[in-house]
Amino acid sequence: MSRAATNLQIDSARLWDTIHETAKFGATPKGGVRRLTLSVEDKQVRDWFRKACEDAGLEVHVDTLGSMFGLRKGKDMSKLPVGLGSHLDTQPTGGKYDGVLGTLAALEVVRTLNDAGIETEAPLCICNWTNEEGSRFAPAMMASAAYVGDFTTDDILSRKDAEGVSVAEALDAISYRGETPVGTQKFSGFVELHIEQGPILEAEHKTIGVVDSGQGVLWYDGKITGFESHAGSTPMQLRRDALATLSEIVLAVESIARKHAPKAVGTIGEAVIANPSRNVIPGEIAFTADCRSADAAIMDALDREFRTAVAEIAARRKVEVKLDLIWRKPPTHFDPKLVQAVEQAAEALGYSHRRITSGAGHDACNLNTRIPAAMVFVPCKDGISHNELEDATQPDCAAGANVLMHAVLALAGVAS
Ligand code: GLV
Ligand code: MN
Ligand code: MN
Repeated sequence: MSRAATNLQIDSARLWDTIHETAKFGATPKGGVRRLTLSVEDKQVRDWFRKACEDAGLEVHVDTLGSMFGLRKGKDMSKLPVGLGSHLDTQPTGGKYDGVLGTLAALEVVRTLNDAGIETEAPLCICNWTNEEGSRFAPAMMASAAYVGDFTTDDILSRKDAEGVSVAEALDAISYRGETPVGTQKFSGFVELHIEQGPILEAEHKTIGVVDSGQGVLWYDGKITGFESHAGSTPMQLRRDALATLSEIVLAVESIARKHAPKAVGTIGEAVIANPSRNVIPGEIAFTADCRSADAAIMDALDREFRTAVAEIAARRKVEVKLDLIWRKPPTHFDPKLVQAVEQAAEALGYSHRRITSGAGHDACNLNTRIPAAMVFVPCKDGISHNELEDATQPDCAAGANVLMHAVLALAGVAS
């Protein structure tokens, strides 16, 4: 690598400005971002991103699930591009960094290479994947999952949100159902920068997490059917209370995950009482469950123990509980060569670093099933994410972007 490339640093202030400029699309009063996938706010940030890519000289195309790709030519166009990027959608009460950092850092890498006049051997392709978050449409990371063939495009297009709007309708509403068939854009490898979304790097005063693995995920849709009846006149022993049942299920998930802790987590994040009323015993509840582990055997145990607990609670309370496993993502083991490229970049740049497992799911985890992939983590304040208070520092974001750039340069090669 030339001296210019070896010493290259991204423009920290410019990266920081873009993060805060785009945070206005869906800004919340508490300083977070609400930018549900394929919403009006998502269209605004997508339009901004498309223009920024075009201004940086990238050739932009959009696939039929709305994922955006910006191609920077390399010297040798017979080589597959190295992919980098993340997502621009957020949770309903999301922060400014989850996904955004990785996508805008990819743009910043391109801008930095442009300014320095550096050509890579292989092309680069920066990406904004549709619906990483999974809060409007399930499952999470659906576009990258379709990209690797875990779902068909038609299946994903037919998924509906809580209002009954399909992915296809939502894409058309914001004019982001692109032309490129899903999976057409090929990559030789993919690197994603992200905030850690957990407390480890901050606690250990490390700047960079070299992500070598990721937790597997189990997502369930549940429905409890008890019996609605009068809150005043129904004796306690005659009730078939759906909410009391859910309360036991919530505690069962917690105790099962705690039994396997620290190697497992379990959460009931959504519950909706049908026709709620203060003086009616709840008769029907829909809920979701999210269980995770980086250990495949523990994932099997979580599934088995959860089902057993639910069956026991349902039988004892004489209610029906329907449990559908709607998504199972095995644990991720990132590509050793790419993990090493990230580690070497962190080392060469002089940042403190450690290997780390991702607790969250990421598009890179899906892509890794077909393409060598790896991730770079930077700390976030108090480990808080999926919260409007999510925070990260400018130097840490810049450090992550520098590691991303140098890992990508090592993979793509610098043209002489
Ligand atoms: C994605 O944000 C996840 O749920 O891990
Ligand atoms: Mn994310
Ligand atoms: Mn997220």
